[in-house]
Amino acid sequence: MSGGNEAPIGVFDSGIGGLTVVRALRRLLPSESVVYLGDTARVPYGTKSPETVIRYSLNNARFLLGRGVKMLVVACNTASSTALGAMREHFTGIPVIGMVEPGAQAAVLASKSGSIGVIGTRATIESRSYERALRQFGGPSVIMDGEPCPLFVSLAEEGIVDGPIVDLVARRYLERLVSRLPDMDTLILGCTHYPLLSSAIHATVEDLAGHEVTLIDSGESAARVVSDVLDSRGIRSTRNDRGELTVYVTDTSHIREVGSRFLGEELGDIRKVDI
Ligand code: DGL
Repeated sequence: MSGGNEAPIGVFDSGIGGLTVVRALRRLLPSESVVYLGDTARVPYGTKSPETVIRYSLNNARFLLGRGVKMLVVACNTASSTALGAMREHFTGIPVIGMVEPGAQAAVLASKSGSIGVIGTRATIESRSYERALRQFGGPSVIMDGEPCPLFVSLAEEGIVDGPIVDLVARRYLERLVSRLPDMDTLILGCTHYPLLSSAIHATVEDLAGHEVTLIDSGESAARVVSDVLDSRGIRSTRNDRGELTVYVTDTSHIREVGSRFLGEELGDIRKVDI
């Protein structure tokens, strides 16, 4: 199944938002090759039932395994929240890394007050996956709450990442969270798209809380876990140059411009696949 150290890391997301995770991976692990699958024909996952998200996720993982990947990274927080268990049961021969555990672990380390907020899609928040992971790493003393912020996804896709509309939407969502968690000093960005809006989210949440709040980018935290797993399994790439990035999508409409924005660099070839 795995093709050794020079095999690529397989990453999938419901769409192209997961390219923010690829960006974090390529920054930390430049010599690793990445095969990315964006299920753009079936995005969004954040509004779908757990059964559907599990079915789509298993499909995506099978496609990537067919490309000989050495590890699976579930960039989609919604899929990480609902389908990670099923994926680990199905694909036992390969490490499967999600976003939730790394994000929760980083948040517990960062928080001094023990009061931690999470924002994500409705499916992610309703799954309570971050709550379980925060308890696992932080114990019963962690105080947490979550708020779904679905409009952030559309804003990021439209390239509206700052200005009055974003500020208004951010205030509307975050004031509910801050009113329930007045001591919150750490906020997890539990969705692929939210890092693009991090400046506005940061300014708004600190203004509402009246104190410093650390933002945790789940994708960056997951990249560090990927790095550790590459070492612990002895499967880190040994090449000296930059690894390749191969991007597959299930629908090509409006991909290039938005995808480049998420990746932080120009997207190369995009291949359309039917899975
Ligand atoms: N990729 C999804 C996530 O991180 C956001 C977009 C969607 O709803 O599919 O939860």
